[in-house]
Amino acid sequence: MHPNITKVLFTAEDIAEATRRMGAEITADYAGKKLLLVTVLKGAFIFMADLMRQIQGDVEVDFMAVSSYGAEASSSGVVRIIKDLEAPIEGRHLLIVEDILDSGLTLSYLQKNLRSRHPSSVEVATLLFKEGKQEAEVSCKYLGFVCPDEFVVGYGLDYAESYRELPYIGVLDPLVYGK
Ligand code: PRP
Repeated sequence: MHPNITKVLFTAEDIAEATRRMGAEITADYAGKKLLLVTVLKGAFIFMADLMRQIQGDVEVDFMAVSSYGAEASSSGVVRIIKDLEAPIEGRHLLIVEDILDSGLTLSYLQKNLRSRHPSSVEVATLLFKEGKQEAEVSCKYLGFVCPDEFVVGYGLDYAESYRELPYIGVLDPLVYGK
């Protein structure tokens, strides 16, 4: 285990199992439909890569980059589009893929923004959901794990751009971010 991690919350095996389950649900729900995974960089890129390989069917991927945290440990509530989708999405079935739903401000903004472009449907798949933290109305159809209110890193999630490479999700030692 990395020396700055105090506890592993979800092992690589836990994550693989959740990803398989979510992939099977998505496969069943979108049977016969063409699906576009909208991946929110950077945190979700590892989850998206694993999830996409668990979906059987006609599936494409595109990427968005938004910023809500910077190097801070908590949400500022400010959402800014840094990179937009490459193609129009009118009439498409979208599935937003997120690594973590915390305040919900990022997803709430994204859902509104994407719906205004007239897709056929917009749903959300998130690996982690921090219960009781939501400040904005969000509907999430596919969920990996409910996550305790800790500073979690690994499997794509960072602190100041580090720890994304960890194969598991763990709690960062508060000494690292000076709490
Ligand atoms: C994280 C995460 C979500 C967002 C969730 O991204 O990937 O996009 O925060 O938080 P919210 O529910 O409070 O809005 P972050 O801004 O840390 O960027 P990153 O994915 O590039 O690390």
